[in-house]
Amino acid sequence: MLQGRSLIEPLDFSVGELDGLFRLSEEIAAAPERYAGSCAGKLLATLFYEPSTRTRFSFEAAMLRLGGKVIGFSGEANSSAAKGESISDTIRTVACYADVAVIRHPKEGSALVAAACTDMPVINGGDGGHQHPTQTLTDLLTIHREKGRLDNLRIGLCGDLKFGRTVHSLIKALSRYEGMEFCLISPEELAAPDYVVRDIKQGRGCKYVEARHMKEVLGDVDILYMTRVQKERFFNEEDYLRLKDTYILDAKKMSYARDDMIVMHPLPRVNEIAPEVDKDPRAKYFDQAKNGMYVRMALIMALLGAAE
Ligand code: NCD
Repeated sequence: MLQGRSLIEPLDFSVGELDGLFRLSEEIAAAPERYAGSCAGKLLATLFYEPSTRTRFSFEAAMLRLGGKVIGFSGEANSSAAKGESISDTIRTVACYADVAVIRHPKEGSALVAAACTDMPVINGGDGGHQHPTQTLTDLLTIHREKGRLDNLRIGLCGDLKFGRTVHSLIKALSRYEGMEFCLISPEELAAPDYVVRDIKQGRGCKYVEARHMKEVLGDVDILYMTRVQKERFFNEEDYLRLKDTYILDAKKMSYARDDMIVMHPLPRVNEIAPEVDKDPRAKYFDQAKNGMYVRMALIMALLGAAE
């Protein structure tokens, strides 16, 4: 039962609970109109202290498509945080008005703090360079839809594995499935943190290799998960400028990949995928963005007890 629970990090839900969410997401995707009144009378609050396009809009679209309503702010300057209010006071106040809230904040651990202050379900929409569990729901649903399974897959994760929260959450979640192999492709300075590599080592028979160049693993992976170098997490611009274009996936590189490989990206992209790749049928990042809305519809329904 997910009713009344919060989602702060990927392991908050069991594999069985995730299966249920993905089944519901598939049913919603097949016949969205059947769910048009599922959350009538309910209110979602979106508390976005950091920029967002997909996460906020997909949550808002999800709630509106379920017949619910949405309130929220986008940008710290538009909330009382600008006056010095704490996260805990803000969330307690929002809980007086809304039934469920999504929070995105630049500080690691902020969503956990928020959830501890209220009985209202709180969803982590990204906490600094730490975790992004609803992007992971999106990614898992996409992998399942495209590959038919979530185990025994070889996945290349490429780019900023140090600051990229989507990668941290995805690795954590996939390490629970059997026989996963991770190819971690990054410059040394942007390698995955030890706590993330530990998730793989403690996983269910998972393996990993590290690579500096895409070409080393490109012909060998089922999934290539590209990421943006996270400009906003760098301490100095010089390092960002030096590292930002380390990897660029273009049509030539795609020619080394298998015909059944898929390319994923949480978006936004900057330069790391050339626009020419978009027309390649293996490019799945816009399908992924759409899946994000379906899985968030399923999540909101489950947390509000509307999924039975
Ligand atoms: C990601 C994020 O915010 O972490 N975007 C998203 O939610 N789809 C990835 C990114 O910003 O690079």
